[in-house]
Amino acid sequence: MSYNLLKGKRGIISGALDENSIAWKVAQKAHEEGATFVLTNSPIAMRKGEINKLAEETGSQIIPADATSMEDLTLLFTESQQILGGKLDFVLHSIGMSLNIRRKVPYPELNYEFFQKGIDVSALSFHKMLSVAKSLDAINEWGSVVALTYMAAQRTYPFYTDMADIKAMLESIARSFGYHYGIEKKVRINTVSQSPTKTTAGNGIKGFGDFFDYADAIAPLGNASAEDCANYCITLFSDLTRMVTMQNLFHDGGYSNTGVSMEVLEKLGIQ
Ligand SMILES: NC(=O)c1ccc[n+]([C@@H]2O[C@H](COP(=O)([O-])OP(=O)(O)OC[C@H]3O[C@@H](n4cnc5c(N)ncnc54)[C@H](O)[C@@H]3O)[C@@H](O)[C@H]2O)c1
Repeated sequence: MSYNLLKGKRGIISGALDENSIAWKVAQKAHEEGATFVLTNSPIAMRKGEINKLAEETGSQIIPADATSMEDLTLLFTESQQILGGKLDFVLHSIGMSLNIRRKVPYPELNYEFFQKGIDVSALSFHKMLSVAKSLDAINEWGSVVALTYMAAQRTYPFYTDMADIKAMLESIARSFGYHYGIEKKVRINTVSQSPTKTTAGNGIKGFGDFFDYADAIAPLGNASAEDCANYCITLFSDLTRMVTMQNLFHDGGYSNTGVSMEVLEKLGIQ
């Protein structure tokens, strides 16, 4: 069901790799809600080719951009405005990658080159996007920028290794940049802290399947799906959330505020 929440709005959606990606669902919902947008992903991800299907389905153009490159991002924001016919109203940062997680390096023994790469791709890319957008004055007043994060920024999850620290930086960038962009241009910046979700990035984490079930058993509403996350992002891009900025917003079925659930105690044989 569509509410026309994004009718007439223009945006950029990063990170749609395949149909499981959270960004893929955001693109589908944004299209349903009347937005026009450009899809972007790293040149390497383009090789998979899946994104072409999404572009066709949503009537969107694709601009490849490595989110660590200021040059690529400048082209992305410049060309997007030309394609869409004006300044942007929303941007989704849905980008994450940790070589330490991929190679299963334990936290106390982190490889620092991998760590720096992870910071660059998953956190500094957010600052770079915002910096390019602001210097080009590419986002309309009351525009909205959302990045996706995970609760390991607040609580320790041993298998999430360096991404915990990287997500903490990402959330801090939303607050710090949110202040500056808010004062100067009324642009809103938030992070959405999403439940474990079965995507390429999610499944790359050691023991993800068990952890997914654990979180589902803790959260009173169960894990939030990628579709639910997309719906929440749409509300943040809409005019209905105009005064929400500099927040880290939990979208996790109540997981973050639940100590333990009866379901988990029963599984442990305690009840
Ligand atoms: N899946 C989960 O459990 C979960 C939970 C909370 C938050 N998140 C976050 O959601 C976001 C999206 O992840 P997802 O789960 O949809 O997985 P995904 O693997 O589908 O998306 C990650 C995307 O990052 C892109 N990317 C990587 N390096 C890039 C670069 N240099 N330039 C541009 N793009 C690049 C990939 O191509 C991919 O499209 C990430 O920030 C992730 O940390 C995921």
